[in-house]
Amino acid sequence: MDTISFARGVPAPECLPVEELADCARAAVLADGAAALSYGQTSGYVPLREWVAERHGTSAGRVMLTNGGLEGFAFFAQALCKPGSRVLTELPTYDRPLKLMQGLGVDVEQLPMDDEGLDPDALADALARGPKPAFLYTIPTFQNPSGRTLSAKRRHRIVELARAHDVLVLEDDPYGEVRFEGEAPPTMFSLDEAVVYTSSFSKTVAPGLRVGYFIMPPSILGKVEGVANGTYISPGMLAQATVYEFLRRGNFEPNLERVRSLLGGRRDAMLDALDREFQGRATWSRPEGGYFVWLEVPGVALGNDLLKDAADAGVVFVPGADFGGPASSARLAYSFVSPDEIREGVARLAALTLAAAPAV
Ligand SMILES: Cc1ncc(COP(=O)(O)O)c(C=O)c1O
Repeated sequence: MDTISFARGVPAPECLPVEELADCARAAVLADGAAALSYGQTSGYVPLREWVAERHGTSAGRVMLTNGGLEGFAFFAQALCKPGSRVLTELPTYDRPLKLMQGLGVDVEQLPMDDEGLDPDALADALARGPKPAFLYTIPTFQNPSGRTLSAKRRHRIVELARAHDVLVLEDDPYGEVRFEGEAPPTMFSLDEAVVYTSSFSKTVAPGLRVGYFIMPPSILGKVEGVANGTYISPGMLAQATVYEFLRRGNFEPNLERVRSLLGGRRDAMLDALDREFQGRATWSRPEGGYFVWLEVPGVALGNDLLKDAADAGVVFVPGADFGGPASSARLAYSFVSPDEIREGVARLAALTLAAAPAV
């Protein structure tokens, strides 16, 4: 029996524009080989920085490109934190930044969220006590792992709170463009240019390119660039020049439409299957985009023991506890698997989980 993976938060192979990128890589070398094949500026390939700046209505001097957003996060945290620094984030949140910060000796405080995203009252309480945080790390749109989106009203309130307490906000937004329906709330960065904004081309073009970006006030950019320069001199220029060529040809929007439609169908398949198989005995988020659904099954520990049984039954997921979430929670990614696999995988998972649930 093939294992169906709801654990892999990666795009299905059909999402990747393989032929077009092959052509763009070749064209990038032929058109601008001297830049694409040498060391470049630590902040990245200039034409791509300019494209990002224009898209976000800012100046290229505020944009830094990195080998994926996660690497940028590592540099950012190294530049801003020291052992014992306090960082606020959501509960649950993306596990890799959590681990990176643990490695730096950072004191991470996870604040509650609900279906409307991070709870601003909990943030206000946290800001009223304890040492001033180095930053607030938030993933406001189609959050990893919960799939939830911070409401527009809360975005305003959180930006105001951060401003009042002079606390830096890091808005991590790799999924915002992967919207299937509904109206996008404003980015927090668009509400206040003091917010540091990060995204990447991993979900909109291809993760293997490893091209991400940060938009930062110049004083912070200088510090982050210092860490990057000491680590790798410059990021991979060829990948950045390839992405730029892809964008220059006008491929970004059509490709995004294709990705949205592919993944939207998978999101629908997952929500339908959850409705059908769990019969009201669990709750889950209903994202309008992104990769993830957050499942909670009251009274059932969706931890490593159940994961082992699930793997034997041919389905895997990530326990919510890996993201700081409760034992009864799990992250289900619908991005990698086909709609048929999603239906079968949810049926396997529900059979196992409901057998372990307390009688109703
Ligand atoms: C919330 C979030 N931020 C950042 C990243 C890192 O993306 P990349 O390094 O591929 O740009 C991911 C990847 O899954 C993510 O989910």
